[in-house]
Amino acid sequence: MATFMSSVSSLLLSWYDRHARALPWRMPPAESKQGKFKEPYHVWLSEVMLQQTTVAAAKAYFEKFLTLWPTLSDLAAASQDDVMKAWAGLGYYSRARNLKACADMVVAEYGGSFPTTKSELLKLPGIGDYTASAIAAIAFGERTAVVDGNIERVVTRLTADATALPAAKENCRTFMDQETPSNRPGDFAQAMMDLGATICTPKSPACVLCPLTGLCAARKAGTQTEFPVKAPKKAKPTRKGAAYVVVSKDQSVWVRRRKSSGLLGGMTEVPTTQWTSRKDGDTGADAFPVATQSEMDWTKHTSITHTFTHFHLELEVWSARADELEGDGWWCSASDLPHEAFPSLMRKVIESALPRALLPARS
Ligand code: ADE
Repeated sequence: MATFMSSVSSLLLSWYDRHARALPWRMPPAESKQGKFKEPYHVWLSEVMLQQTTVAAAKAYFEKFLTLWPTLSDLAAASQDDVMKAWAGLGYYSRARNLKACADMVVAEYGGSFPTTKSELLKLPGIGDYTASAIAAIAFGERTAVVDGNIERVVTRLTADATALPAAKENCRTFMDQETPSNRPGDFAQAMMDLGATICTPKSPACVLCPLTGLCAARKAGTQTEFPVKAPKKAKPTRKGAAYVVVSKDQSVWVRRRKSSGLLGGMTEVPTTQWTSRKDGDTGADAFPVATQSEMDWTKHTSITHTFTHFHLELEVWSARADELEGDGWWCSASDLPHEAFPSLMRKVIESALPRALLPARS
């Protein structure tokens, strides 16, 4: 077992030395071998983003955040609203709220420098087991087991572990705990991720190019694509509701702020009926949830669908003209529309009602 263990890390690290992906938040292996680490702020930011999107999409957001807020103190000094706007499109907006809360706490309680151990990192808002391990290993060289989705696929194949996910996660953690070297633990974790992303891919793994092919139990049995085994997914319900795009004479759109907690908390939206993950909202023009002085003349547009973690949502889209509305909300001018913190769902709604709306392409 000992030989097996040490050969995983040595084979993998020498592969990584040649094939590591060049990523803006990553220290290239030639330098990390000399004990150099990237700024913890960069590592943290990228890891939070990478839980939400692909490496390709994360690059643009990463650059945008660093342009807006070059240091962690800059991010702590930003308004919550600006952070939400910059995060818009990535989804799962509690991550953006936690990003700001975490920056605030590191500045207030740690003098602006991230704590350097997994156990301390775990105390920060939005930092769970994965993120704490990833930051500790990658930014500080702590020998700790990092397990993400790519790593689960690589490990369940290497060990031909037929335990279904999510239960298999624990076995993966044990494996990573045994295999992670004390020298270059962050490179080891990232090498496993790169292997999963570029060679040990879900559908057609390129086993002939894999540095671990000789150690892989699934490859030996020819069963590599059967792993990881996944527990059957629960079917997602489809919820219904309606959204209303009201446009004024000067092309402003009536918007409001969602309550700060819960789904899409704190994001901007056009008025909608009260759909939730558990129940349908009303539909039809008559369900418009804002007080009006006069009759509205509604047009129905193509409904939009959106998939959340636990449900699909189908929203009717209605539009009308009006110049006076009452209640909690404001007129967002056409020139402010592109900068407003709309979740992707709301961009779809507005685009359905106003095909030429000035919404920016999602970066
Ligand atoms: N996915 C999550 N974190 C990553 C990293 N540091 N490198 C590559 N892929 C990742």
